[in-house]
Amino acid sequence: MLDVATTLRAYHMADVDSLERRLSIDLVGVVEAAALAAGRLMGQGDNMAADHAATEAMREAFNHLNISGTIVIGEGERDEAPMLYIGEQVGKGGTAVDIAVDPLEGTNLVARGLPNSIAVMAVSEQGGLLHAPDTYMEKLIVGPAAAGKVDITAPVKTNLAIIAMSMNREIEDLTIVILDRPRHKELIDEVRAAGARIRLIGDGDVTAAISSAVRGTAVHGVFGVGGAPEGVLAAAALKCLGGEIQARLKPRNAAEAERCKSMGIDLDKVYTTDELAPGKQLIFAATGITEGDILHGVRYFGSGCRTYSLLMTLTTGVISFVDRVHLQDRHAPVILERF
Ligand code: FBP
Repeated sequence: MLDVATTLRAYHMADVDSLERRLSIDLVGVVEAAALAAGRLMGQGDNMAADHAATEAMREAFNHLNISGTIVIGEGERDEAPMLYIGEQVGKGGTAVDIAVDPLEGTNLVARGLPNSIAVMAVSEQGGLLHAPDTYMEKLIVGPAAAGKVDITAPVKTNLAIIAMSMNREIEDLTIVILDRPRHKELIDEVRAAGARIRLIGDGDVTAAISSAVRGTAVHGVFGVGGAPEGVLAAAALKCLGGEIQARLKPRNAAEAERCKSMGIDLDKVYTTDELAPGKQLIFAATGITEGDILHGVRYFGSGCRTYSLLMTLTTGVISFVDRVHLQDRHAPVILERF
């Protein structure tokens, strides 16, 4: 039987000086800031403006944190991204941490007002997140039931059978999320031939990855090639949720392959969840921008706005849904809605 009192005691007695305990709630403010900035540009058809707003707001929010942070997964290389580039130092000094960010995961989704865009970040002790360049990554993602059982090098049908068996169902009862891209034609054909259902998404495979580890989302796996930065962020989330990602880096050209090698990436290697996010302490935080499967989007009302965030910490084992109302004028009358 679950002993709630013991669990709570363990939480309260956990190392109070851990970076998870010290930083986690402050990090929610960072992803909220990015989401609030990008949310204003929902449906405006301007990907770049939405991405810029989120990045600027997130960068500014870091200035208020007592950390000495290094961006290890960010908006790109130093020469191509003005802010939150790989290697940038953020924070006003303090705990040394490595940081993976995507201030706006799903720029198209925000620009078009489509679901499942988020502002997202993961933080660990130094060395706790793979330093991966801005390239592609082949991913096989499953929730806790199939974790430790699938194998990215096995045929698609074999992995579908394993997922189905571990979830006590038939392959026909599974829904697999795949990015809707021409490069996935063969993969889509194989999943169809095996009999599984498919949800093709335009963008946003981090939300899909989280969904695969959350019951009730009707997502049982995520297959295919997406962004490598998103893969590292997904790994941090899946590690907190007990899911699994297996991944291989897939550079798009010789320059990206060279960059991978210079960062110590082995292109033949299958990276596990633990190798993508090896941190002993991990914090994952995301705020919904547009309405989504896991999180509501940002809501604006006359006297303020409301954000919905997911905050997870690895060692303390706490998963929080953070629903916050941000009042513009503390003295104006507020009509608060329950949810
Ligand atoms: P952006 O937010 O950078 O636009 O990325 C969205 C996304 O769909 C990711 O979720 C996914 O991993 C990646 O892009 C796929 O890349 P591509 O659009 O080049 O296929």
